[in-house]
Amino acid sequence: MARDGATYACQACGAVHAKWSGRCDACGAWNTLVEELGGGRPPGALAPARGAKARAGIAFETLDVVTIPPPRLMTGVEEFDRVCGGGVAPGSAILVSGDPGVGKSTLLLQVCASASMNGARTAYISGEEAIDQVRGRAHRMGLADAPVKLAAETALRDIVEGLKREPFDLVVIDSIQTMWSDQLEAGPGSVAQVRAAAGELVRLAKKRGVAVILVGHVTKDGQIAGPRVVEHMVDAVLSFEGERGYPFRILRAGKNRFGATDEIGVFEMSDIGLREVKNPSALFLGDAGRRAAGAAVFAGIEGSRPVLVEFQALVAPSSYGTPRRAVVGWDSGRLAMVLAVLEARCGLSFGQRDVYLNVAGGLRIVEPAADLAAAAALASSAFDEPLPQDCVVFGEISLSGDVRSVGRMEMRMKEAAKLGFGSALAPSGAADAGLMKVSGAARLADAVRRIEQQDWT
Ligand code: TYD
Ligand code: MG
Repeated sequence: MARDGATYACQACGAVHAKWSGRCDACGAWNTLVEELGGGRPPGALAPARGAKARAGIAFETLDVVTIPPPRLMTGVEEFDRVCGGGVAPGSAILVSGDPGVGKSTLLLQVCASASMNGARTAYISGEEAIDQVRGRAHRMGLADAPVKLAAETALRDIVEGLKREPFDLVVIDSIQTMWSDQLEAGPGSVAQVRAAAGELVRLAKKRGVAVILVGHVTKDGQIAGPRVVEHMVDAVLSFEGERGYPFRILRAGKNRFGATDEIGVFEMSDIGLREVKNPSALFLGDAGRRAAGAAVFAGIEGSRPVLVEFQALVAPSSYGTPRRAVVGWDSGRLAMVLAVLEARCGLSFGQRDVYLNVAGGLRIVEPAADLAAAAALASSAFDEPLPQDCVVFGEISLSGDVRSVGRMEMRMKEAAKLGFGSALAPSGAADAGLMKVSGAARLADAVRRIEQQDWT
């Protein structure tokens, strides 16, 4: 039975329950409920004072007042600034999440160093590494001269006190999971601690106009370990992604109160830290040699920039009762949909065949405009007929089998033409604008027929 004021928080999703149970009703995880003392008060809030005077109520304002936002803090790491929406907004709280080892500490140390060289007062507080480790890394990266203030600390109270004493423009907390408050009984890393620490730091950010960047590790299923709750408290959630074995790292905005959410920043991990990739359009083209059957180059747009990516498919006879579907870099639900449309509207059959789909270079594609590229790669592998070497593909596929127009088609073709591509398999609405030869397809079946019959008129 719940004791007075005690609640139970799920350590996986953060849902709060009045009673303990073996399974969280909200996310279905087992054995994740942990008792929290302090009832349902907001994170870090104190108990209401007894005998407090009646409140004065709130004063309302109008919409028509023009306020000029304070200028953004440009860190000088351009890829980072762009993903933030044109620099870091003062007083904002940003969560940077990613797998352990992807390079979050490296990135943020670089951001701190660069911002401090630009004149910003920056602090880097590590709860995971000793000062010497951070320093050693900075030396290796050639950042030893940057006037960044370092601290190795996990006690929230000391950190907050320290940040109140000295004015800062930008503070990095690496990581939020290592911070703990002595006002809570729960152990470090628990949802209660993470929530309290994040709440306290976000409040501090707003109150003092300091931009606070929180680092959060994610678990393998893509959730920020425990502190999913942090996502709701911060102004921006940036995820740092990268496939093992590839040097490329992508910083992607998942939520941003101060900018667009589809923007990405591209970096390359080297032995002296992360290198910015300012023009990533040709980075994910796969093997520059002859493109085999099963490969299709997607002319994509990530945020404000065109990026060409090779989709690689393999359709092979299955030796299992249930054929395999494996996909890397694209949504498996989307693959299932494209396969179903290819079967229902184009007469292809995948029932007895394994299907593998891979996006080259370790990039993850979320644009619906990639449907036609995936379908073209699949059809090309199924017929063992390659697409023309100089051909790019884009277009969205509907369940009815139509190929729909997508946004910024001219920009896609312009970039492809710049990189030496001469033709496009595209929605029939794509005007060629003199950029390249367009093989229009109103229906997916048209595109599939072109591939099967090698008809590129
Ligand atoms: P790190 O920033 O510590 O990752 P995170 O904070 O996300 O856990 O980076 C970890 C990896 O990056 C580590 O395996 C080593 C590699 N690395 C480089 O390749 N070059 C470098 O200059 C640095 C600093 C790290
Ligand atoms: Mg780290």
